[in-house]
Amino acid sequence: MFGVSRAVERLSGSQRNLADKLPKPRTPKVVGLHRGDPSFATPEYVVQAAIRAMREGYTHYPAVQGDVQLREAVAAYQSEISGVPVSAPEVLITAAGTGAVYAAMVALLNEGDEVIILDPTYSLYADVARVVGATIASVPLTSKFKVDVEAVRRAVTPRTKMLVLNFPSNPTGQLLGKDELDGLAAVASENNLVVLSDEVYDQLVFAGKHLSVLGHPLLGERTVLVNSFSKTYAMTGWRVGWVVAKGDLFRPISAINRTAVGYVNSIAMRAALEALTNKEEDRKWRAWMLGQYQLQREAMWQELQKVPGIRVYELDAAFYAWVNYDAPLSAVEMMKYLYERGLNCRPGTEFGSMGEKHLRFTFAPSVKDIVEGVAIFKAAMEELRS
Ligand SMILES: Cc1ncc(COP(=O)(O)O)c(C=O)c1O
Repeated sequence: MFGVSRAVERLSGSQRNLADKLPKPRTPKVVGLHRGDPSFATPEYVVQAAIRAMREGYTHYPAVQGDVQLREAVAAYQSEISGVPVSAPEVLITAAGTGAVYAAMVALLNEGDEVIILDPTYSLYADVARVVGATIASVPLTSKFKVDVEAVRRAVTPRTKMLVLNFPSNPTGQLLGKDELDGLAAVASENNLVVLSDEVYDQLVFAGKHLSVLGHPLLGERTVLVNSFSKTYAMTGWRVGWVVAKGDLFRPISAINRTAVGYVNSIAMRAALEALTNKEEDRKWRAWMLGQYQLQREAMWQELQKVPGIRVYELDAAFYAWVNYDAPLSAVEMMKYLYERGLNCRPGTEFGSMGEKHLRFTFAPSVKDIVEGVAIFKAAMEELRS
């Protein structure tokens, strides 16, 4: 046998992609409400730009920090959202949001450093902390999924290096409030923390308003912003995202990205450039996309109302339903129980220990899948509670 690194050993505690480790169910099909991947295709104007890019010779190594025009377009986009100027040299193009989070955490954390992660939150941050050997200080959200700023403050120790935020939130669908952001900004600046802010759902907001962390006067210098083309442009398969950071933070992240990924796909970057800069098509696309998600969100909400013994939280933003169930199975057991019956979803504990007795469903898939999937959940809950 060959040995594996300690990083891989530490990763074995992760509950990500649990279904891959389970035997295939015997049901005729498995409905997937587990992955934030839209049912619809990338917009045609973006696909056409990729074809043009191949014909125009974008088939060589691109610039190592990303296509120059794309970095400019992203800088303009982030300036508009944050209300503070962002310049192209502060933008690093990455292998989507995943590559951005990986490069940022590996570049800025050492073994034994502490990183504050809210609970529940997207599971990638804890996994990258495991790879690095950083210690996770998990801070539970309040019962209404707000940030308990005082609890964050109490979690800070002399070893704390980073605070991770993800709003709009996967899995809770919540936005960050102004008071929460002000409180967190004070904690971060008083304790010299880096704030890793993953804002990949910044365009998927159905109720309320997204607040940019980068725009906060106390946070501009210490924020590493992560974003991606995956969700806004239904480009999950293209793998293009970015980091925005000031020089001292930018350089190490760029060094790790160059080492881990080298170059981001040249053709995909030209397609991403078109996605952002063809303003007329972009406007049309976003309106259509949000309309689709509204339908899917409504279907998810309506179908879940039929399920006994559950509590569903508001679906304000992103495309997830965070569901608390009352049945005598743990979150992992419940996920397995549903999987055996032909529904794939995520156990709440993948997102932190506060996710016990919770499941995460996504309404990124089609209305048909949502209706079929939630029907399986309903039948299971009826069975378990009878
Ligand atoms: C909060 C969050 N960040 C990052 C990602 C990674 O997305 P990608 O790597 O496709 O950009 C996801 C994917 O589900 C996510 O939910």
